[in-house]
Amino acid sequence: MSERLRIALTKGRLQEKSVEMFEAAGLDCTPVRSPGRRLIHALPNYPLDVVLAKAPDVITYVEHGVCDLGVVGKDTVLEKGGAFYEVLDLGFGRCRFALAVKRGCDFYGTYKTRRVASKYPNVTRAFFEGKGMDVDIIKIEGSVELAPILDLADGIVDIVETGATLKENGLEPIEDVAQVSARLIVNTAAMKLYKNEITDFLFRVERELGGEA
Ligand code: PRP
Repeated sequence: MSERLRIALTKGRLQEKSVEMFEAAGLDCTPVRSPGRRLIHALPNYPLDVVLAKAPDVITYVEHGVCDLGVVGKDTVLEKGGAFYEVLDLGFGRCRFALAVKRGCDFYGTYKTRRVASKYPNVTRAFFEGKGMDVDIIKIEGSVELAPILDLADGIVDIVETGATLKENGLEPIEDVAQVSARLIVNTAAMKLYKNEITDFLFRVERELGGEA
């Protein structure tokens, strides 16, 4: 008797791409496609229950073992960390973390301590620690591009996908911080307890990844 697995999907952009990939792998995701206000959905043709959650919560659920698997961006993995296996780069949700400043601003051309705004203070701290550089980090919850415009910060560390948001706000990326894409993560105990079920699921997903290459 095969155990039903539970997977947490990051709501929003990654949700759509995850569902597309699972459907290509033969999983009927109809319940997830029309979720209404329900947050957990049993797939009809595969022993998998799908939970929809915000990115940091995906990691929390997988770490605590209430979900066996999760799909979450590398941005959240880098920021939040945690104890789980990161088993696959799913290839979608590609973007990057970049350091950006007001167009023409010489970020490194002063000895003053720089202020950097970000939704990702841990990623920002690690980046500047890697350079041996002391910066003041200001945590912002959204639309970080405002911080340099309002002269709250000298620069930002943020997700850049097309670059349009930076451009439209008079900012420019000056350095890449890290590459980002969606990752499949697995609870460490579940990997052992449900080895056969997880291996079957990974096989199906990997076959799709192979097909795309
Ligand atoms: C992200 C990021 C940038 C924008 C980058 O924000 O923080 O603002 O997307 O995309 P682009 O390079 O294609 O313009 P998001 O849309 O997630 O909104 P948020 O700032 O409210 O989190």
